[in-house]
Amino acid sequence: MSVDKKTKTILPGSTIGILGGGQLGRMMALEGRRMGYQFITLDPTENSPCGQVADYQFVASYDDVEQAKEMASRCDVITYEFENVSSLVAEALGKHSFVPQGSRLLFFTQHRIREKEALMELKVPVAPFHVIRSRQDLFDGLKAIGTPSILKTATGGYDGKGQIVLKKPEDAESAFQLLVQHDRELILEQFVPFEKEISVIVARRQSGEMEFFPVAENIHRNNILHQSLVPARIGQRVESEAREIGKRIAEGLQVVGLIAVEMFLTGDGRIYVNELAPRPHNSGHYTYDACVTSQFEQHLRAICNLPLGSTQLLSPVVMVNILGEHVNQVVEKIAEFPPNIKIHLYGKKGAKPKRKMGHLNVLAETTEVALQIIDQLKIWKKTEDVR
Ligand SMILES: Nc1ncnc2c1ncn2[C@@H]1O[C@H](COP(=O)(O)OP(=O)(O)O)[C@@H](O)[C@H]1O
Ligand SMILES: [Mg+2]
Repeated sequence: MSVDKKTKTILPGSTIGILGGGQLGRMMALEGRRMGYQFITLDPTENSPCGQVADYQFVASYDDVEQAKEMASRCDVITYEFENVSSLVAEALGKHSFVPQGSRLLFFTQHRIREKEALMELKVPVAPFHVIRSRQDLFDGLKAIGTPSILKTATGGYDGKGQIVLKKPEDAESAFQLLVQHDRELILEQFVPFEKEISVIVARRQSGEMEFFPVAENIHRNNILHQSLVPARIGQRVESEAREIGKRIAEGLQVVGLIAVEMFLTGDGRIYVNELAPRPHNSGHYTYDACVTSQFEQHLRAICNLPLGSTQLLSPVVMVNILGEHVNQVVEKIAEFPPNIKIHLYGKKGAKPKRKMGHLNVLAETTEVALQIIDQLKIWKKTEDVR
């Protein structure tokens, strides 16, 4: 029996299945429980961040179709919280269960080459790139793109993993050798000398209804998101252009649920799309405490076919990530935190360096003041000390 995707509304009381049990699933489940939904998650790590707050967790690998089907048989709707869930699993589940996001969006967003080509088709500006499947391609790519550039694996990369910056052509050979061990397909991208990184998160329902969260300004350290500032320090033109781009992508790819769009903004005001994420995004964590509706609630509303909530910003905010190297200090200093800091910890066991363990949302009159408050905590290096 095929499921009518157009009309199905999933009401509170129903069970939502989440493929992946990380922090994004955890926050989805926390928000969804408040709304009266139940949750089952699937993740290979026992007692995963989402498993801790869900009603039940299947302990299984992400490509375990049998366990995924077993989970789906107990759920009213299925979603995923990271894009490396096999699109084959999503497709298999879609045959008998309600998977409103489909598998097509995953197919594009889990593969950098397919993603870039889809964006080009939508006439969305991206940095010049070259597809690398052989040494000859690398040679041709370097001729076409030159350096500085970035060599990335087509699949599996996150938080700066699976990519190497090529400062000069001689860096290419060793980078190529290293990366082809992880993926036979690579992409060489021109390095965009951006002034800022920004992102926009768009929610879209089956009916085509859309809502946009305020644009975030994202500061990375070691290729990992460090802070998101909202409102972003950009003009109205850039804010609306970023939204326009988000709209074109959400419509073009027929998104149901969330799509996060990472972008580069250059000194001369040009926007290039860097990458997409078909799920809640780290740069949208600020919405949990600073918007009427969080990105997690909005995602659930969209896939459950409920009217989308208001994305109004209630206060300027800076989100700062807590990595493995910060988490002990955060816990030790928590009693001294001022009252306008909202603490999120994901319940992860191993505090490895660079691992995302939690984040703070700092609400203040301005983002400038929020940044000062963060500096006063003396947990993270100050911006001027990093540059
Ligand atoms: N073409 C590029 N030009 C300049 N900086 C880049 C480029 N690609 C990636 N970066 C930098 O590396 C970060 C991580 O790269 P990204 O492609 O977003 O991979 P990930 O999946 O790790 O987030 C980006 O946020 C940006 O700071
Ligand atoms: Mg990224």
